[in-house]
Amino acid sequence: MRPLMKPRLECLSLNRGATVYNRRGLLAGLALSAMGMGSCARKTTLQKSDPSALKTRYHFPIGAIAKTADLRDQSFTSLLTTHFDHFTPEWEMKMEYMLQDGGQVRFDAPDQLLSFAKAHDLRVHGHTLIWYDQDKSPYFQSLKANKSLFSKAYNDYIAAVMSHYKGQLMGMDVVNEALDEDGQWRPCLWLEVLGPDYIEQAFRAAKAADAATPLFINDYNLESNPKKRLAFMKRVEALLKRDVPIDGIGTQTHIDANLPPEALTLALKDLASLGLKLHVSEVDISLYDASHNPFNLPRLRQKQIALIHELTKAYGDLPEAQRYGLTFWGMRDGDSWLTRRPGAGWDEPNLFDAKGQIKPI
Ligand code: GLA
Repeated sequence: MRPLMKPRLECLSLNRGATVYNRRGLLAGLALSAMGMGSCARKTTLQKSDPSALKTRYHFPIGAIAKTADLRDQSFTSLLTTHFDHFTPEWEMKMEYMLQDGGQVRFDAPDQLLSFAKAHDLRVHGHTLIWYDQDKSPYFQSLKANKSLFSKAYNDYIAAVMSHYKGQLMGMDVVNEALDEDGQWRPCLWLEVLGPDYIEQAFRAAKAADAATPLFINDYNLESNPKKRLAFMKRVEALLKRDVPIDGIGTQTHIDANLPPEALTLALKDLASLGLKLHVSEVDISLYDASHNPFNLPRLRQKQIALIHELTKAYGDLPEAQRYGLTFWGMRDGDSWLTRRPGAGWDEPNLFDAKGQIKPI
């Protein structure tokens, strides 16, 4: 059974040997097509003015993700502008893209995304300044022996991004995935050189550059791992006590369809108890378990729908000031990182099927 933990991209090649994974994917694919699955989603094509557009259904902003390549896909942009209030840049606002080897920051792709958003009355949630997963840049690696130069470069990078987008973003993920499964600070270059204060330092640098944009700390498995959630909340509380300018929490919500729906409600209530804005920031609901037993697929599809209902209901019940937004990490199944990454097999984690037909939510 697939664990209810969000698999980390970098672990996948280790955890699932390519041969095993491919064989599984092939068998599952054959079995699914033999059952004629994947073709029974409701056939609905929504127009821009359609009152059943997702964004008209909820009392909170609803979002998706986008990258510049998606803007050339007319069926993608049509779904995005029809159904969503905002989007998060999937990749091009990450350090891996923005930071050049010499320390310069490039804004070309994220600027294109912002222009598209402005032209279509969409807002953009910034993602992400500091992430353990993106600490390999030659620039920062070359500075790691000199803490004060490193620290200045760290502040400068944050200031460059925040000042460039000052006043233009609905919010920004300042630190992403700082904790491991046990709630300990996750080892990374930032921790190694700056110590755990790297988090506080990042928030202070971001706030100094743009005082008005809400700043978020974003993490994963807070729904499926209550131990991690508790540790995360304690860490955030401690930072708030030191007046670190954290305005909001992002709970990614990359979940598995087997997660009991009440786990979502509980997680949202717990996290909201800190009183900050709450962003349900990267929702997808994996049906991967059906790869092992395709006969489970109808049941898992129903569970996926039930989880979306539970999530949107529980989120809608939070105080209005805390309902920053609910963002889906992908629109169509075929676009998902869970189906697109190297060696990926079958999955249907998103709101729209691979053809862009909305699921019966
Ligand atoms: C994490 C990151 C996202 C994205 C997903 C997987 O959740 O925060 O930016 O990379 O992993 O694609």
